[in-house]
Amino acid sequence: MINKLYSLLLVISLISCNTPEMQLRERISFNDYWLFQKTSDVNVSKIDYDDANWRSLELPHDWAIEGPFKPEYNLRTGGLPIFGKAWYRKHFTIDNSKKGSVVTLKFDGVMNNSTIYVNGKKVYHRPYGYIGFEIDITPYLNFGEDNIIAVEVNPEVLSARWYPGAGIYRNVWLEIKNPVHIKHWGSHISTPSITKDKAEVIIETIVLSKEDKSKDAYQIQTIIYDKEGIEVASNTTDFRFNKGKESTILQKLTVSNPELWDFKTPHLYNAISTILNKNEVIDNYSSHFGIRTIAFTREGFFINGRKEKIKGVCLHNDLGPLGSAVNYRATERQLEIMKEMGVNAIRTSHNPTSPEQLELCDKMGLLVQAEAFDCWAIGKTENDYNKYWNEWHEQDLRDMIKRDRNHPSIIMWSIGNEVKEQNNENGYKMAKELVEICHQEDPNRPTTAGFNNLSAAIKNGLANEVDLVGANYKPTQYAEVMEQHPNWIVYGSETASTVSSRGVYHLPLKKYDKHKSLQVNSYDINSPNWAYPPDIEFHFQDSLPNILGEFIWTGFDYLGEPTPYGGKDNLTHGNWDTDWPSRSSYFGAVDLAGFPKDRFYLYQSQWTTAPMVHLLPHWNWEGTDFEEIPVYCYTNGDEAELFVNGKSQGRKTKGVDKTRIPVNFGAWKGRPKYFDSPYRLNWNVKYEPGEIEVVAYKNGQEIARKFIKTAKAPDKIELITDRNVINADGKDLSFITVKIIDENGNFCPLADNKVNFKVTGPATIAAVGNGNAASTEPFQANYRKAFNGLCLLVIKSKNGETGEITIEATSNGLKSKIITVKSK
Ligand code: GAL
Repeated sequence: MINKLYSLLLVISLISCNTPEMQLRERISFNDYWLFQKTSDVNVSKIDYDDANWRSLELPHDWAIEGPFKPEYNLRTGGLPIFGKAWYRKHFTIDNSKKGSVVTLKFDGVMNNSTIYVNGKKVYHRPYGYIGFEIDITPYLNFGEDNIIAVEVNPEVLSARWYPGAGIYRNVWLEIKNPVHIKHWGSHISTPSITKDKAEVIIETIVLSKEDKSKDAYQIQTIIYDKEGIEVASNTTDFRFNKGKESTILQKLTVSNPELWDFKTPHLYNAISTILNKNEVIDNYSSHFGIRTIAFTREGFFINGRKEKIKGVCLHNDLGPLGSAVNYRATERQLEIMKEMGVNAIRTSHNPTSPEQLELCDKMGLLVQAEAFDCWAIGKTENDYNKYWNEWHEQDLRDMIKRDRNHPSIIMWSIGNEVKEQNNENGYKMAKELVEICHQEDPNRPTTAGFNNLSAAIKNGLANEVDLVGANYKPTQYAEVMEQHPNWIVYGSETASTVSSRGVYHLPLKKYDKHKSLQVNSYDINSPNWAYPPDIEFHFQDSLPNILGEFIWTGFDYLGEPTPYGGKDNLTHGNWDTDWPSRSSYFGAVDLAGFPKDRFYLYQSQWTTAPMVHLLPHWNWEGTDFEEIPVYCYTNGDEAELFVNGKSQGRKTKGVDKTRIPVNFGAWKGRPKYFDSPYRLNWNVKYEPGEIEVVAYKNGQEIARKFIKTAKAPDKIELITDRNVINADGKDLSFITVKIIDENGNFCPLADNKVNFKVTGPATIAAVGNGNAASTEPFQANYRKAFNGLCLLVIKSKNGETGEITIEATSNGLKSKIITVKSK
């Protein structure tokens, strides 16, 4: 019997084994030493092309985030150069001893329109930037000699409605394996029956033979290990290739007393399948999976038999100032911040996400709606995916599901967001085909789509094709749709779309705030005309407990789509010129730098139970013309009392004392001008400098308090790290919040001082940012202006270099600050 020790040995051999006798699979990062050039020279793919003067870099890489911002670049895609032809080249050798092995390259994603050449020969082409692919490069290789891979990336302008990034922006892997090996994404794990005592695990493995091995006998041994690495189940099965080059093996294993994957206990199992030929181990493959039940019913969503509302966020793929280049820690930080807000689910709007994000959702106990497309055959932008639809949609969709279906975090597949075919009489036929593909590749999860024109999608039959009906911005229709369709299961696939800028307060409060400053009020009442504030969705979710829940637009601000600015979009390059330099979204509950806006706390008050209270606006209103300042409070208590300089302004009760908010209700039938929100508390108070404080109560007991003081002039810089020990792997990051404070340590809410950074020791500056959606300062620089008192510095470790990193922040007229971070 193979025990824990064996499993450790196996894992080590996976990483380090390169003896030809063993022929076990090697998986090596292929990110180092690439050469990069923006060029349309047609000769670049040739072996002897002179690349001596090319820029050398490491992947993942997003060239567009390097800037500069320009008004002639379309602001819809972030005002950054996301288009144009560029090439990557890499010289490499594969040892002669590997002759006889199969060598493949795995690209997790290239944005977009990539064509790959090995030693001068075109070997692969893939238009969709969000999906990964594997290429068998064995026939083109010269073992023991120099090889050259050249990757052409050719993204066009307006290939999306947001910022997609540009380049080889996800990881690349080299694999060396036996000609007989488990196929790329070749393991499909499902758990059809789960009880308290045991779980049945079905593992379908596809083994590939690159040579004619029809006479040979093989064995596949699959062992399941729990989170401690202890073996909990195993199965060995004989197989042959018969006539084909593929063999599919079905194995049934039983895990006793399964530890279920759930929000708070995201237990993962690891299934390692080993291929043996005459007792010789020739390949192995590891897949993580979870054991959990999910059910979608007319009564709601259930995980492990427990009903839970989906408290979800939509997230685009960029990582703010770091652009679209995948980074594990930056992805983890985004998800940590979302969890802190009370989020339990994410929607990968509107495309397959990075493998890292899914791995993290598995580990962190977050649910995922995996979405495939933002358009089908009818595009939304000039160079949208519709160009590739006919040729590629089936493969892209199948590949997404094959790639992702073992993730316990994924609970549904979305075949599309707001596709134009909602208005097309053939729409339902296309949906039928896509749903069928999903069910073939994964019979265990429901399909869905996000409908913004729900009535049309109902009328043309499209909505009837999916298993779960996602409504974008239609809370007022939930009840009616449920009633009229007794079998449908409904939820808010996209909700709210409230817009705001962190720390910005414009008075008087207006329902449509397209302020000339290019900043939007942070009182959480503004939205474009198809959308509405969070409270409206809360109201419908609360009154209709059987609706599965919601995915808000959006958790984080993202680059591009700077609604409500830049409206003159005639979809051609450079014509979104009206509101330059507004270049990124205002939709996030968290800004582009990762700083929570006030709205973050409104969601927290509704989605979390740990006592909290939040207070807005700031308290620096010197010289204001307004007699009364609206003060808002968000709490998960039931009452709160406000004090101005110690004087009570009254104690108010949530739901009884409703906060009247002026809103621009797009999705609300009858369109009233106000909503009396039971989700917030407010007082209108006369401004006097000093201090405002709010005390929150639950069942009469104080649970939390928060004060804001009038700040004096900016005096010094404060630096706060998210982590002060990072890994010396050349990838890990420390996110440093830069805060401007006065002489008494009070936060200066209006400060916009320019801060300069000096980083010494084993780290570099990865990015800077401040959450200002209308800033054209570069993200890669050693300075940043504060925006409403805050900016961000992101530092990255150097590979293999340990020691102390010193960060010095200076600014004209302010006291500077030095801190250290360790790299181990
Ligand atoms: C939705 C769309 C999203 C985003 C959002 C902004 O209609 O699906 O991608 O554009 O509007 O409110």
